[in-house]
Amino acid sequence: MVRASRFPSAVTSSSPLVVLACVRDSPLPGPIIRINPNELHIQDTDFYDQLYRRENKLDKYPGQTKMFGVPGVLVASDSHEVHRRRRLPLAPFFSRKAVSEMLCVIEERLKALSGRIRDFQNNGTAMPLGLGYVALTTDIISEYALADCYHLLEREDLGADYHQLLVGFVHSCHFIRHFTWLFNFVQALPDPVLLWLQPSLKLARNIMKKMEMDVHRLRNRVEGKPPGTEPGIFAGLLRSNLPPPEKSADRMSSEGMGLLVAGSETTAQTLSITTYHILANPNILAELRKQLQVAIPEAGTLPPLADLEAVPYLYACVQEGLRLSYGISGRLMRVSHSPLQYQSWMIPAGVPVGMTTVFMHDDEDVFPDHRSFKPERWLEKREDGIRLDKYLTAFGKGDRQCIGMNLAHAELYLTLATIFRQFNLELFDTERSTVQYHRDYFNSFPKNGCDGVRVLVK
Ligand code: HEM
Repeated sequence: MVRASRFPSAVTSSSPLVVLACVRDSPLPGPIIRINPNELHIQDTDFYDQLYRRENKLDKYPGQTKMFGVPGVLVASDSHEVHRRRRLPLAPFFSRKAVSEMLCVIEERLKALSGRIRDFQNNGTAMPLGLGYVALTTDIISEYALADCYHLLEREDLGADYHQLLVGFVHSCHFIRHFTWLFNFVQALPDPVLLWLQPSLKLARNIMKKMEMDVHRLRNRVEGKPPGTEPGIFAGLLRSNLPPPEKSADRMSSEGMGLLVAGSETTAQTLSITTYHILANPNILAELRKQLQVAIPEAGTLPPLADLEAVPYLYACVQEGLRLSYGISGRLMRVSHSPLQYQSWMIPAGVPVGMTTVFMHDDEDVFPDHRSFKPERWLEKREDGIRLDKYLTAFGKGDRQCIGMNLAHAELYLTLATIFRQFNLELFDTERSTVQYHRDYFNSFPKNGCDGVRVLVK
């Protein structure tokens, strides 16, 4: 919804943080502002569906996508056509049906997570559950995409070094965006020189090498052989009718890294934030446990996913968790080939324009008392007839909407059901600021650290 402004309608800033700071603590500028010399930003929750609708066939803005550092991956494909071509062969692997057929992977990894939680229970030490969530989601996507589970859950430190590395990379996104040439130069350095300059990049190089080997292994399994039942999204991609350059080792490895990053951190972050809020609110915890006890009579045996999705309070907690974790906090910039009309403004073709989920989910008119975790809001019938799910944009909308949405949903439902049905947890050394969105690195990050919620297992 459009809100009143006491700022001029054009505010120029090169930093999203400047705009966030002034918007969060003051009446909003806008509703349409020039956020830096090149980009427009619109703050009007009712316009989201119109901007991102498929029919607009929008490109992404190269000035933004270069922050990913890997131009060949799906999420960084600027051209609408190139994106469509790349997404087509991937999409079937993330359909609801495909995800329902791989639930055994999630369930098997959840058993491993439960085992680790019991270890901490037996030792009486606090568990970095947030890290456990990163290990869980990384294990799931590595198994599903590459048929090669990383088994971070089996590692003593739950793969903390791997997590730190990915976070370090994601935190570089603004640097890469502004100093792309320097990033490319460093990337091109031979391994011995790079590792002499920065020994901590050894793990990054090892992960990339492992990815290249995985792609090579899958290529050998599919090439020249009749279609079989090779597991893994990549086997399917290599069999697809993408043109050969799109199947090159470099692009496949980059796409693999893209899936690993996109498929792990966001879901883990959402799990961490949702877990924090449930544990921090005894009434919410009690209601969730009551409903889960009915839906899951035997604590160790999960019912079908559809039955879990039908548990009203679990649904409400998932929605509210997605709302307060925002998913992607960065502006999703788009470029249209034809002029776009917004209210009385005509946005010329070629001008990058975007919106931000942070402002969608913080809209006080749609989500009153927006800073509070209130699952009930998803169960109440609103007198003004507003359908809240229309305003939940954690996964984006239109043809660039998160491809992993069904997988993420399955992970959220199955994991929260397992955690709150099987375990009695207590927050340990975790404040709201430990998990709450504070910094925008395209993904949302809290103020300090990023290992998420810590718990004592009773
Ligand atoms: C709660 C969890 C998740 C959230 C909130 C989320 C959010 C998003 C959003 C907002 C986008 C659009 C980005 C843009 O427009 O630039 C996106 C894209 C994407 N997401 Fe997710 N995501 C989640 C989980 C996952 C999972 C589990 C995967 C699995 C691999 C995944 C893979 C991707 C990919 C590949 C894209 C690029 C899609 C494209 O450009 O067509 N995400 N995600």
